[in-house]
Amino acid sequence: MQKTAEKTRKAPATSSGKTQDQGPLMQELFLDMLKDIYWAEKHLTKALPKMKKAATTEELQDCFDDHLAQTEEHVTRLEKAFELMGKKAQAVKCEAMDGLTKEADEMTEETEAGSLTRDVALIAAAQKVEHYEIATYGTLVQLASNMHLNEVATLLEETLKEEKAADSLLTDIAENNVNWQALETENGEGDKSERKGKK
Ligand SMILES: [Fe+2]
Ligand SMILES: [Fe+2]
Repeated sequence: MQKTAEKTRKAPATSSGKTQDQGPLMQELFLDMLKDIYWAEKHLTKALPKMKKAATTEELQDCFDDHLAQTEEHVTRLEKAFELMGKKAQAVKCEAMDGLTKEADEMTEETEAGSLTRDVALIAAAQKVEHYEIATYGTLVQLASNMHLNEVATLLEETLKEEKAADSLLTDIAENNVNWQALETENGEGDKSERKGKK
């Protein structure tokens, strides 16, 4: 039953009641999204070193460092995806990613260097970035599969897995270390630099 329905599925009718061939339009949308995330990933190769430098704990610094190496690979995979589609790799400014990294900069400025609160803020900013990437790659993988671009789908799926792993690692660092240590410090049991200016 399900299979028959799949086979006979037609392009949905538009508001005018007409149906149209979705192929070229879908490919155009897909390419636009690819250009957007290509800009975002390249932008992140510059943002992550700044976030690493701003981080307090070695654990978070290492996490940003490892994800920088992965992000460089994400850029390369996107170039390969363009190539597989017979297109030149092109970056178009991603306003969302630009905003998210600006927020990371602001959160850095608003927290004290060397404090655990700084790490809590950086983890929050980094997870927003990862969630944006997860949403984007999730859609791209789905679209690539629908368009039977199997090699492209497999490539982007690899990246999607790495974004999800990076997000989980950030959660682990926050939950197991940074958050409670930051709270303990606020309660007066942590390092002196954190207590500065507090009761
Ligand atoms: Fe990425
Ligand atoms: Fe990422």
